[in-house]
Amino acid sequence: MPKLSDRLKEIIGGLKDAEIFADIGCDHGYIAKAMLDGGKCKRVIVTDISAKSLKKAEDLLAKEYSGRYTAIVADGFNGVPYADEALIAGMGGEEIVKIISSAENLPKILALQPMKNSDKVRRALVKSGYKLIKDYTFKSDGKFYDYIVAEKTPEADLYDEAEYEYGRENLRYLYPDFKESVIKKRAALENAAANMKGDEKSDIEKKIAELNKIINDDNRVLR
Ligand SMILES: C[S@@+](CC[C@H](N)C(=O)[O-])C[C@H]1O[C@@H](n2cnc3c(N)ncnc32)[C@H](O)[C@@H]1O
Repeated sequence: MPKLSDRLKEIIGGLKDAEIFADIGCDHGYIAKAMLDGGKCKRVIVTDISAKSLKKAEDLLAKEYSGRYTAIVADGFNGVPYADEALIAGMGGEEIVKIISSAENLPKILALQPMKNSDKVRRALVKSGYKLIKDYTFKSDGKFYDYIVAEKTPEADLYDEAEYEYGRENLRYLYPDFKESVIKKRAALENAAANMKGDEKSDIEKKIAELNKIINDDNRVLR
């Protein structure tokens, strides 16, 4: 197996131990193999909507893990057997929401790494009765990613609007990668605002003020 990217390492590090781990949209299959290599699960289910992508995962697992994996061409969770933990990584947030909301059965643990629209993913998780146990931004190879791990609980989570937009741990702890992502976003907005007038400009200025507040909040309240 080739050397894992920092993004994949971060994702694997955040996954919980499981009996049956499912990687929905697995493509290369590296994460499922790392879960088995690390003894973090007994069996894996690898799925992809593309048979060609899934074949890569099957080829990776076949030699060493025959009998410990199931490979299925599937759209989201459709036709996927029981798993106690599932990962959906590297897809857009809207696609992830579609997968979650159309699933008949969802696992106890859902780990999600959306490429955009993380706010929509957070809303879908809370609506589906999950508590968000990890929710933060990390940087890998110069890009910023959100990572959310959620657990189904009897008492659903309560997120406020800012938490939906930015992620609870980010606001609570202002981790360096998140802070850097906010500074980068602010610089882009400042550039854009320089060429604008009227309402459009004042909307962007409000957003810049919101970002300044996040970065400079010395009285960070534990949420
Ligand atoms: C960018 S790759 C990400 C691969 C891997 N999860 C990762 O994070 O490195 C996205 C994969 O998701 C698959 N995919 C997209 N939509 C899907 C869906 N609705 N159900 C299952 N797989 C899907 C694609 O075929 C592709 O292999």
